[in-house]
Amino acid sequence: MNGQSVTAEEEFSTLPITTNDDVVRARQLVRALAQQAKLSLVDQTKLITAASELARNTLVHGGGGVMRSGLVERGGRRGVTARFEDSGPGIPDLDLALTDGWTSGNGMGLGLSGARRLTDDFTLASKPGAGTTVSITKWVR
Ligand SMILES: Nc1ncnc2c1ncn2[C@@H]1O[C@H](COP(=O)(O)OP(=O)(O)O)[C@@H](O)[C@H]1O
Ligand SMILES: [Mg+2]
Repeated sequence: MNGQSVTAEEEFSTLPITTNDDVVRARQLVRALAQQAKLSLVDQTKLITAASELARNTLVHGGGGVMRSGLVERGGRRGVTARFEDSGPGIPDLDLALTDGWTSGNGMGLGLSGARRLTDDFTLASKPGAGTTVSITKWVR
């Protein structure tokens, strides 16, 4: 043990995101995890909102994918992580995509930037043609 994350990824559950119903399921699953972790009500709402936006992006922009989520622990702190993965077109310009109000389509352009603001840890990895992975974590304070 080295003080890094001690939660094995195998403990994460995988939820496919290929329909609107799946986006609702992703939201419900993250809510259940947030309650289980005993995040504050405000932090639960922040995490659920972020996860909803990312699930929708996975469906709409990524052409479908999966959410891997679970409880995590690091340095004695508890949290919830949700990671969204797709094999879609990818994002050519990450900084642009993270700009408030920027959308390549008809959206509000607040999903990615909002998810970053609402969570404690946010990582976005994408390459054109190679899909997109976005990971968010909210820690109990
Ligand atoms: N999973 C994804 N795959 C490909 N492009 C994405 C993905 N997620 C976000 N993007 C790109 O980033 C832009 C900004 O995303 P977002 O802030 O959620 O705005 P919106 O979804 O309203 O367009 C999107 O318009 C899209 O071009
Ligand atoms: Mg969006």
